[in-house]
Amino acid sequence: MIKPHGSDQLKPLFVDDASRRAALAKEAESLPSLLLNSAAAANAVMLGAGYFNPLTGYMNLADALSVADKLHTTAGLFWPVPIVNIAKDVSAIKGAKRIALRDPNVEGHPVLAVMTVDAIETVTDEQLRSMAAQIFGTLDENHPGVGTFLGLGNQVISGPIEVLNYSYFQSEFPETFRTAVEIRNEIARRGWKKVVAFQTRNPMHRAHEELCRMAQERLGADGIVIHMLLGKLKKGDIPASVRDACIRKMVEVYFPPNTVMITGYGFDMLYAGPREAVLHAVFRQNMGCDYLIVGRDHAGVGDYYGAFDAQTIFDEKVPAGALKIEIFRADNTAYSKKLNRVVMMREAEDHTKDDFVTLSGTKVREMLGNGIAPPPEFSRPEVAKILMEYYQIEDAKS
Ligand code: ADX
Repeated sequence: MIKPHGSDQLKPLFVDDASRRAALAKEAESLPSLLLNSAAAANAVMLGAGYFNPLTGYMNLADALSVADKLHTTAGLFWPVPIVNIAKDVSAIKGAKRIALRDPNVEGHPVLAVMTVDAIETVTDEQLRSMAAQIFGTLDENHPGVGTFLGLGNQVISGPIEVLNYSYFQSEFPETFRTAVEIRNEIARRGWKKVVAFQTRNPMHRAHEELCRMAQERLGADGIVIHMLLGKLKKGDIPASVRDACIRKMVEVYFPPNTVMITGYGFDMLYAGPREAVLHAVFRQNMGCDYLIVGRDHAGVGDYYGAFDAQTIFDEKVPAGALKIEIFRADNTAYSKKLNRVVMMREAEDHTKDDFVTLSGTKVREMLGNGIAPPPEFSRPEVAKILMEYYQIEDAKS
């Protein structure tokens, strides 16, 4: 199986040994506490689950700046996005070597991880803005990722962590949340030799479904791991439970048994387009996948990125050999009325715009809200049904 990023063996930061975990939980009771923001909590979950291998904790300021600028840590590890714990107020943990990191997303703020503090450094507004510009390619505060990043605070707390649980992900999504370790084990159990990963934050429409099928066929892959984001999204995006139900239905009806694994990961969406695509590749390698599908406007939002910037970054910013995983580049896919199937648009050279079924996101949203199913060329009827039910309840609330 493909090796993890940066080490021969995966070294997840979750404390597997139950007695050690209990001892840490006990120690945490008497430690100074820091209430994390959601971004830092999501980083802890990803570190715990092995997705951010080989990192051992949160980056210090020099590493964060270096990663944002050069996609490498100061020690030379290839890494696309700073993995940081930035807070506004550190008065409660001043001078402490060991601290308890508390979960902002679970009632009662239980301890998520125990941290050994290496440093608490102040990041200037100028440094924060320069990092944001490099990560997101914009400083527009209307960009959901930029707004979140610039609002984290100015104190960078760095050092190794030991993770005690997976926040709300395991309890809310027991069938879907999986760690990188679990996915590797399941790939081995199924005997899959060549595996392609599909990133998604949406219910899967026909374009998504066919993209998976095309990738599997063209690569000769044994299996597809659908890996959906389970963390926080911007307002208006569809909740994970609804997406999960759509995806499960679509796979059940339209894919042969044992060719698809449905899984999810606990991370908040950054909307960082190209940089996030590279992070996606890193953690799909860590979970044992050989390929990641990268299509149109991957991890994008609004008009901030060019449609294929998330593909070209792999040529421009990822040095040869830095990653073992490869990307499967997909062009815009759409249903061809001439061929009666979903195609990559660039491969249908004789087609004009009118030969494709194209619907804007706004139009689809409007139809679903009104209880009208989008055409089957766009959405499977079983998926449309689940979405119509969701939107009708949503719209009744507002
Ligand atoms: S993402 O933010 O997780 O990337 P989404 O779930 O919509 O958003 O997309 C998942 C993957 O499918 C991404 O690689 C994206 O580029 C690709 N994709 C979605 N729709 C299309 C399409 N019509 N044509 C080509 N690729 C697409």
